[in-house]
Amino acid sequence: MRELIRINQPFLGKEEIDSAVDVLRSGVLTDKSGMGPRVLEFERSFAKYVGAKHAVAVVNGTAALHAALLAADVRPGDEVILPSFTFVGAVNSVVLAGATPVFADIDKDTYCLKPESVEECVTRKTKAIIPTDLYGLPSDLKSAVDLAKNKGLIVIEDAAQAHGAQYDGKRVGSVADMTCFSFYAAKNLTTGEGGMITTDDDEYAQALRMIRSHGEQRPYWTVRLGHNYHMSEIAAAIGQAQLRKLPGFLEKRRKNAELATQKLEMSGKLILPKEPDGRRHAWYVYTVRLRGVNAAKRNKIVDKLWNKNIEAAVYYSTPVHSTPFYRDSNVARKGRLPETEKASRQVFSLPVHPRLGEEEMDFVADMLRKAIA
Ligand SMILES: Cc1ncc(COP(=O)(O)O)c(C=O)c1O
Repeated sequence: MRELIRINQPFLGKEEIDSAVDVLRSGVLTDKSGMGPRVLEFERSFAKYVGAKHAVAVVNGTAALHAALLAADVRPGDEVILPSFTFVGAVNSVVLAGATPVFADIDKDTYCLKPESVEECVTRKTKAIIPTDLYGLPSDLKSAVDLAKNKGLIVIEDAAQAHGAQYDGKRVGSVADMTCFSFYAAKNLTTGEGGMITTDDDEYAQALRMIRSHGEQRPYWTVRLGHNYHMSEIAAAIGQAQLRKLPGFLEKRRKNAELATQKLEMSGKLILPKEPDGRRHAWYVYTVRLRGVNAAKRNKIVDKLWNKNIEAAVYYSTPVHSTPFYRDSNVARKGRLPETEKASRQVFSLPVHPRLGEEEMDFVADMLRKAIA
């Protein structure tokens, strides 16, 4: 039996190991305000890479979102519009900030927020929108930014899955008011656990730096609410090494996605992922939809792939609004979410990570074609 083909897997080498060992040798593992030399270096490089003025490193992607909401002064009584078809961490961050998540529906082709549904969700209480770059594809950022300008809202982009993706020729991280990234082990760039917020706004950047360090303006001088969201020096050193490799990783992901498309496009039963004009995918995963099936049928196909040692994955079989906490409470508000519910029954994702080559992509596509035959 061949080795398990994982849905995503960290791609680490000598550079990451040497960088981590250097930190251990230096004895500087972290900094009391989260601004050790490795963190500062990683922040500078990351800001330059995405084309933003500031990057603020934090402990994970959920912390990045929570810190961004606090920096945007999101508070009890406010509403924040975001998809239910996303990772729960984004929604929990809104609740942790004391605000009400309002779920908008997704576009049936991109699985990202549907602009018309977002507009329908806007009320007097709306403070921010969180467009999510799902599966590595940038959300329709122009419509979010235009709506925000019109209504005086703040756009906090969730690019946890989309390092290196582009929108109208600009890297995500340089478009929204604030953009949040995750460096969790499965992501396109990893530090094990880690996160980053990028912004061009000096005031947000200053607020974010305080929020990640208990709201301290200087030691023992707390001027606002914050948390301990420091990134460790080891994580930053690994991130710096990974960032140098990111362009190569993205090229490999793109090539694998193109191979998957070539090998699967003849199948009439599958709807393959799209890359709308002006958007460049980061190919976190390759997500397909089985035309007209229910969840049981989709799950059967996924099980068949698992039996061949291919880790196909369903992001997200239960949309956040249907999980027990959100379903059984009134902490969130939801409108009609037909496309969210349909996608949750019909999609599944295939691996295209950079450790895979043409032979593995052939195998994945062959096994999938057989499974749906
Ligand atoms: C879309 C999305 N948002 C937010 C997060 C949260 O990131 P983290 O797991 O680093 O807290 C993730 C990561 O899993 C994600 O995929």
